[in-house]
Amino acid sequence: MLFKYLALASLVILYILMFIGGYLESSGQGLECPQWPLCPSGFLPSAAYLTEWTHRLIAAMTGVMIIATAVGSWKVAGSHKKIRATGTLAGIFAMSQIALGAIVINTQLKATIVAIHNGIGILLFAMTLLTAIYAFKLPYGQTIKTSA
Ligand code: HEM
Repeated sequence: MLFKYLALASLVILYILMFIGGYLESSGQGLECPQWPLCPSGFLPSAAYLTEWTHRLIAAMTGVMIIATAVGSWKVAGSHKKIRATGTLAGIFAMSQIALGAIVINTQLKATIVAIHNGIGILLFAMTLLTAIYAFKLPYGQTIKTSA
């Protein structure tokens, strides 16, 4: 698996997630699904909760991809301090964002929490973008070392 494409895919899916989050907020649908982790329709999507359900599903996928990129940033051939730092920080911010998402729901969209959710989202995007840029600048063949 070429590491740079994993880092790039993480950036693209994160942008889509943040776009949906912005739509969720501006369309006033933030509390469309008033519980966490699942909507009243359970795992399956339903028209009534579609936007929020999609935000959460893509958040889960984004979390997995950003953690995989964080691990890869330590294991890829030619790994350096900067890519490890941005990759790891992105992993920490992604996990914080998912926890914050639950708090946004539990506090019924408390303005300060939503603002923090947005703020961490921007930091997460910055770290994911830097990791992707560093990944495309790595000299070697992008292979992730499997043995130490
Ligand atoms: C990596 C994970 C996540 C990212 C990057 C993310 C990002 C965002 C962004 C950028 C917004 C728009 C905020 C604004 O316009 O002020 C947003 C809104 C929102 N997010 Fe997330 N989110 C993530 C995960 C989650 C999760 C797991 C949940 C729920 C369990 C969640 C619930 C919400 C809600 C309810 C809103 C709308 C807030 C409102 O209407 O005021 N988010 N998200």
